[in-house]
Amino acid sequence: MKELQEKAVKVLEKNWKNGFSIPCEGLYPFQWNWDSGFIAIGLAHVDMEKAIQEMETLLDAQWENGFIPHIIFHTETDSYFPGADFHCSHLHPSASKKYKSTGMTQPPVAGFALHKLYTISKDSKNTLLKIAPLLDKVYKNHQYFYNHRDIHNEGLVYIYHNWESGTDNSPLWDDIFSTMQSPEFTFERRDTTHVDASQRPSKKEYDHYLNIIEIAKEHNYSDEKIAELSPFLVQDPLFNTMLIKSNESLIKMYKILGNNEEKIQQLETWQQKSIQSFNKKLFNEELGAYIHYDLRNNTPLNHISSSSFTPLYAGIPSKERALILLKTMIEKFGNDHQYLCASFDPTSERYNPKKYWRGPVWINVNWIIYNGLKKYGFSVVAERVKNDSLALVEKYGFYEYFDARKNEETTGYGGNNFSWTAALLIDMLNNH
Ligand code: GLC
Repeated sequence: MKELQEKAVKVLEKNWKNGFSIPCEGLYPFQWNWDSGFIAIGLAHVDMEKAIQEMETLLDAQWENGFIPHIIFHTETDSYFPGADFHCSHLHPSASKKYKSTGMTQPPVAGFALHKLYTISKDSKNTLLKIAPLLDKVYKNHQYFYNHRDIHNEGLVYIYHNWESGTDNSPLWDDIFSTMQSPEFTFERRDTTHVDASQRPSKKEYDHYLNIIEIAKEHNYSDEKIAELSPFLVQDPLFNTMLIKSNESLIKMYKILGNNEEKIQQLETWQQKSIQSFNKKLFNEELGAYIHYDLRNNTPLNHISSSSFTPLYAGIPSKERALILLKTMIEKFGNDHQYLCASFDPTSERYNPKKYWRGPVWINVNWIIYNGLKKYGFSVVAERVKNDSLALVEKYGFYEYFDARKNEETTGYGGNNFSWTAALLIDMLNNH
């Protein structure tokens, strides 16, 4: 295991670019929002200065309205599509003047990532001093979410693009794309020059992705207009879990800091409402799992994905409900022939074990589920998720995603030497 950790550290060193990390060479050459949070957690074990810098750089790209973009284009390169010139996020009046970015966001992991830095630190006083100003930026980000993305005032925020979910190519979105008539765009893909096309989304799917961005651009990325007009508008359990977990972390940190009563009160109010609505609206009794809700078409998306189990991490389900989730996970995702945890229901006809978010195991979601299971005392299954993650990386390398089928000629897919795979492996190895 020592050897594995050393390899992981090397991956992070290689992907460090003077102030932030790229997810991997070639395929993802810029800074990604939720990647940075996970990467900072891994860095914290080996180099706290870099961990703090990773978060500082991410939050430096925050917009005036509190929004934090999903990609920050630190360099000019035409090796990625769609790049800064396609996104045109400067159309939004609050956009950063300093950095080019996309006009969409990603799961809000910054709050709990900062808290992890504090708990991992061997000099917690000093770390707290350094991250205190960042906490206020994250608070402002949560304010943005609750003020602009909770259109029914129910404590659940929406995402307007599948790329905001982090689970970009999930079969969940098929239902929504089937309601859309997207024009055919002419463009040159770059991802398929790095990775086999069979592991990446199709051209038709890319047309939908670009179409949603074009609609947002037509309205200068106005949240109100997007809420009114975007064909994609979803309450995502993974995204909302990240927000709720980050609320909890901010509360903890502000309590340690002191003199932040008003913010704590506000966070607690959001927290209560969010958890209540989450359990009421996003749980499907029949499936025994949390599900996504399509706000545009006013309908639940009744599919089980790895996102369905992530609410454990933020303590959202009751003990009884957590047991139901565990049973669903083992029955559908966890027989002896499968590594935990496939990204989509392996019993569904939409399951594709090789393709991006349509089936393979992702280490970041495994890390969330592992910590969630531990929180509820499900230590045997938690250990299994951890050991499966370690086994996959040890056997195939630091890949972006992995085939969940044990008996096939399984392998790693997507980008290699992938930062969050390395970072979260370090955290799992050092988490006792
Ligand atoms: C892919 C993933 C997304 C991630 C990005 C960079 O687009 O779907 O979640 O942030 O790669 O690693």
